[in-house]
Amino acid sequence: MIDLHCHMLPGVDDGPPDFATSIAMARMAVADGITHVACTPHVTPGVYDNSSATVLPLIRRLVEMLASEDIELTLWMGADVHVAPDLVAKLGAGEVPTLGGSRYFLLEPPHHVMPPRLDELVSALIAAGFVPLVTHPERLGWIESHYEVIEAMVDNGALIQLTAASITGGFGRRAQYWSERMLDEGMVDVIASDAHNTAGRPPVLSAAVNAIARRCGDDAAVEMVSGRPAAILRNEPLPRRQRPGPAQTTTRLRQEGSKLASWVKRLRG
Ligand SMILES: [Fe+2]
Repeated sequence: MIDLHCHMLPGVDDGPPDFATSIAMARMAVADGITHVACTPHVTPGVYDNSSATVLPLIRRLVEMLASEDIELTLWMGADVHVAPDLVAKLGAGEVPTLGGSRYFLLEPPHHVMPPRLDELVSALIAAGFVPLVTHPERLGWIESHYEVIEAMVDNGALIQLTAASITGGFGRRAQYWSERMLDEGMVDVIASDAHNTAGRPPVLSAAVNAIARRCGDDAAVEMVSGRPAAILRNEPLPRRQRPGPAQTTTRLRQEGSKLASWVKRLRG
């Protein structure tokens, strides 16, 4: 499995405090069946001022340490990129890391307030050749009041990443409800751990994969932790998902309605 969202680098955000914890996280990831991790520290201007220049040396150091400990885990560069007005320029200049240097990057909307013109920012990013993978919308405080904004971002070409623990109830009933709803609506591209440590936020995907397999089938679950993340790291275009729109839903209801009508007719003779 591939984990595209993981705070595994030490001392750069609210993730692990030291390399010993990073290595313990790496061991947990491998034990869970994870083979590749994108190291994605927060890039939040004024709070976590990380950039490609600061992140890359830490990844190189951790790669060396994993090799010396015989831990078979491949690391990729990435970042958990907070919404900011100058993102197009910073991504274009290579200052803000994308996922493995691809066109895809993690975009983290603010948790408590929907930023004005978020859909415009997403459209500008896509027009500039980048594809935002929107992180954990199921945990946003404003998802109920502005779900249509998330749907519009998806319709414009943004991708959606759910946090694995949300699906299994680790972030409460509300995040689980939105996870299940978005899975059922075909809105979800990728599942990632968004791990921060070894205890409360561990690098574990398998429990969520099992839950998705039961709900949506094995193939869909594997796609979300393997097929799509691999294509993202290879910078390949992803096929556009077919999500049931109002027209298809109406057709389906009409078909089900006519089936029901003929069944009732047969019963009445
Ligand atoms: Fe994160």
